[in-house]
Amino acid sequence: MGNNLSVQYIFSEFKNTPELPATKGGGVIGNDVWIGMNSLILSGVHIGDGAIIGAYSVVTKDVEPYTIVAGNPAKVVRKRFDQETIRRITSNQMVELGHPENKR
Ligand SMILES: CC(C)(COP(=O)(O)OP(=O)(O)OC[C@H]1O[C@@H](n2cnc3c(N)ncnc32)[C@H](O)[C@@H]1OP(=O)(O)O)[C@@H](O)C(=O)NCCC(=O)NCCS
Repeated sequence: MGNNLSVQYIFSEFKNTPELPATKGGGVIGNDVWIGMNSLILSGVHIGDGAIIGAYSVVTKDVEPYTIVAGNPAKVVRKRFDQETIRRITSNQMVELGHPENKR
């Protein structure tokens, strides 16, 4: 992760403090995510596995796996791989993790 990264939901423990802004609760940062310096990830946002967040981005919405986003608000720049490759990577991960859908 880059320097000066802010993840808004870190502060969710202060959600009952009226002088602080509201939080949408905890979010999720997947595995193998690369987050550029000076980025802000808002509360409640889920970042999929293998995503890349460009430097100085403000991430306001969920980011799909293996997707590159950048800007304020962060928009999709491109996918890291074609959809079939992403499908294969994510289904292999489910097998490795013993996902119930893959147990026969
Ligand atoms: C995000 C990144 C991976 C995208 O790489 P890429 O797929 O080769 O795409 P490009 O760099 O060609 O940029 C594609 C578009 O996204 C924009 N973009 C890229 N990074 C951006 C950023 N951090 N914020 C806003 N826009 C960004 C570019 O301006 C370009 O816009 P355009 O299509 O309108 O010309 C790359 O730009 C990058 O690594 N940036 C971050 C570097 C960084 O954070 N360094 C510090 C490490 S902590």
